[in-house]
Amino acid sequence: MKIIGTGSSLPAKTVTNDMLASFLDTSDEWITERTGIKTRRLITTETLIDMGADAAKKAINMSGIDVKDIDYIICSNVANNFVTPAMSCMVEGLVGADCPCFDLNGACAGFLFALDMADGLLKTGRAHNILIVCAEEPSKFCNWEARDTTILFGDGAGAVVVTRGDDHVLSIKMSTKSKYESLYYQRKMELTPYDQGTELYNPLVMDGRDVFRMAVSASTRDIDYVMNEANLSPSDITYYLLHQANLRIIESIRKHLDQPIEKFPTNLERYGNTSSASMVILMDEMIRDGRIKRGDLLMLSAFGAGFVSGACAMRY
Ligand code: ACO
Repeated sequence: MKIIGTGSSLPAKTVTNDMLASFLDTSDEWITERTGIKTRRLITTETLIDMGADAAKKAINMSGIDVKDIDYIICSNVANNFVTPAMSCMVEGLVGADCPCFDLNGACAGFLFALDMADGLLKTGRAHNILIVCAEEPSKFCNWEARDTTILFGDGAGAVVVTRGDDHVLSIKMSTKSKYESLYYQRKMELTPYDQGTELYNPLVMDGRDVFRMAVSASTRDIDYVMNEANLSPSDITYYLLHQANLRIIESIRKHLDQPIEKFPTNLERYGNTSSASMVILMDEMIRDGRIKRGDLLMLSAFGAGFVSGACAMRY
């Protein structure tokens, strides 16, 4: 599997920490110190599906392939306005593709789950070109009165086109250790004549400290596994592209690997945590501004609600 195109799309509205502090009991100082986040982009008039399609068009354009040569579209999304059809079906129409489409919900590790699925489809010969779109609007499932969650998230979309290529994925490892109580969002379902039970609805519930601990231990474990399987040492990696959740989580992983800070690029200070889109948006920025070059060794690692996690070593 080889990445031949990337794209991203962000909402126009920038929301600063001070703007949040005008209605939440928080401050720019607290948010910056505990998370590294300074601003985030939040959806106002955009739709997530349009943003996903916009990112996809940019990725297809960079790849140089004909849109009709896309054999599969996989969208990674936690929640959006439509429960059905899948977001990928709508993206297909907006980009003008003609192929099977499905969505997956791998929380913030969704991009890595999608890469793993795509790698399998390419290896079996069922597909030559696959479009992966990660589009997320976590702002729509936060409780806007809860200062511990709302400050963390931003909305955004990222996309990649992958095709067949030798030796680009050196190792990939996905994991799930079921523990939903630490991070979940429960949405409303319709009541029926046969089930008038209590509606279970909860905007995002998070035990921040537990998630922090699980994130660091899962990510370091996954990276060590992948590194070992690919026969790499930490210094071989050009960049560690980690899920953009919290600068302190990234710093803990960096310390474990004992590698220089320059190898751990971030954009969470500008965009916050955009769930599964975060790593793709970062990758797209770095490819477009020339920081990531062909031949670079990338270590991707992400974690999220489930608790799910994964890592992937790949040559760009
Ligand atoms: N502003 C000011 N004070 C706050 C805020 C805020 N926004 N949020 C919490 N506090 C307070 C708490 O109430 C607590 O006060 P208390 O001591 O009086 O009880 C105090 O700050 C410390 O709270 P902690 O939870 O211990 O703070 P911590 O240092 O752990 O930072 C944070 C909290 C930033 C949420 C951190 O735990 C974290 O980043 N965890 C990981 C969260 C994450 O990454 N989630 C998403 C990952 S998966 C995915 O991407 C979906």
